[in-house]
Amino acid sequence: MTEKKTVYICRCEEVTEDEIRKAIADGARTVKGVKNRTDATMGLCQGRTCRRIIEKMLSEVTGIEKLNPGIRHPVRTLNIGELVRGCNGDE
Ligand code: FES
Repeated sequence: MTEKKTVYICRCEEVTEDEIRKAIADGARTVKGVKNRTDATMGLCQGRTCRRIIEKMLSEVTGIEKLNPGIRHPVRTLNIGELVRGCNGDE
């Protein structure tokens, strides 16, 4: 008998596919609902890689293709030094 492999959807928070499916079975119908139940999307990537997978899993249950078209990711990431220099007006 083969052992079932653990599939991590959110690798940084170690949230598995089974945990996401359980959250959806428990009533989560949005990525935020899954996030509140599992902490998925709260890690380093902030949902940039895992969010699409969760949206796909949700759409399989809800039948809704695009669950939250209003999400906006930062244009680019900043390091703290750039942010501080920008706040102080330094170049
Ligand atoms: S993989 Fe963990 S927040 Fe996206």
